[in-house]
Amino acid sequence: MILLKNTIYFSSMLLLSGPNISGNEWKYMKDCLDTGWVSSVGGYVDKFELMNAEFSGAKYCVATSSGTTALHICLILNNVQANDYVIAPNITFIASINSIKYTGADPILIDVDPATWQMDLQLLEEFLQEETRIDENVCVLKKDGRKIKAIMPVHVLGNMCDMDKLMMLAEKYKLVVIEDSTEALGSYYKGKHAGTIGHMGTFSFNGNKIITTGGGGMILTDDPALAKRAKHLTTQAKSDSFEYIHDEIGYNYRLVNTAAAMGVGQMELLPKFVLRKHEIASFYQDQLAGVGDIEFQKIHKDVNPNWWLITLKTSRQNAILKILNENKMQSRPFWVPMNKLTMFANNIYYSKKDHSQELYQSCVSIPCSTNITNNQMEAVANKIKEIF
Ligand SMILES: Cc1ncc(COP(=O)(O)O)c(C=O)c1O
Repeated sequence: MILLKNTIYFSSMLLLSGPNISGNEWKYMKDCLDTGWVSSVGGYVDKFELMNAEFSGAKYCVATSSGTTALHICLILNNVQANDYVIAPNITFIASINSIKYTGADPILIDVDPATWQMDLQLLEEFLQEETRIDENVCVLKKDGRKIKAIMPVHVLGNMCDMDKLMMLAEKYKLVVIEDSTEALGSYYKGKHAGTIGHMGTFSFNGNKIITTGGGGMILTDDPALAKRAKHLTTQAKSDSFEYIHDEIGYNYRLVNTAAAMGVGQMELLPKFVLRKHEIASFYQDQLAGVGDIEFQKIHKDVNPNWWLITLKTSRQNAILKILNENKMQSRPFWVPMNKLTMFANNIYYSKKDHSQELYQSCVSIPCSTNITNNQMEAVANKIKEIF
């Protein structure tokens, strides 16, 4: 057997943010296997959608094959088309920006706030004031007249920006807000769940997220028509229940029943996982308080984050990455800023001080799976302290 080169086995590694399968996942997945309901429809998909709606407070949830496909569908549903622009932060996982590119639109990348690491709303406001105008009720970029259709705030690491301000700007400039809340299941702004504040939101259930279905995503909306169309588009746009009649170009973006079954088991555990992430954040903050120049992400006063991925900012980034990984404690740098990737290098990047680059060169994510033990966290913290 030939193994693909990028196949990595983590069996002896303390994972950054690994899955915690400790409830009814086996039972529900076995039920799918026993009954043969393993594919693209089944009761667990409906149940998983309902549980997500109940947990987040969204009126409707539509399950998808991934967070990326959820974002893609949200953009299509909001009429984002080729040659349009969508505003997004320069620090995010590439999937946010890829989803914009899938529609043929281009991203406008805004630098991030050096304290919260979310899109810098001051810069966003300046950009909208200086570089755009409203033409027949549509926001356009002054320099080329192309339409700006949406803003995609990304709740980076489960933290959030001042959403009131963002929504105010969106309203003023006639922009739709699609929340990339893929990392923010269990995060709140003024008591409202991430993904339910903008016009549409998304979750991801990739293996490293707070809960997982192996791979999967969710679209959140309060609009019944959008929800119906999201279901239609993600299931090949079939318009007849018997005949193969399709009324537009649809997508095979549905979540399979086996994955949803795992998701139902995980949703039952989610409240416990959110609590544990909070405990993990407090533990590391206590252990690493005053150690060298280590800083944590600042949290806006109205935000209650899920603390999805514990990340430190420090000048000793390289040393920490080296020592932790050598000791089988998985640690990672921040994403390469989007403007530094060749595919997006020609897109607009609005920045005054390039905080994205500074964060990229100083951030380290450390092990924080929900099933990490206090002893394991202490060992990680001690290794970091040794460096200082
Ligand atoms: C910010 C962000 N956006 C989008 C995605 C895409 O989600 P998925 O991997 O489920 O496609 C992820 C995570 O993987 C993410 O972290």
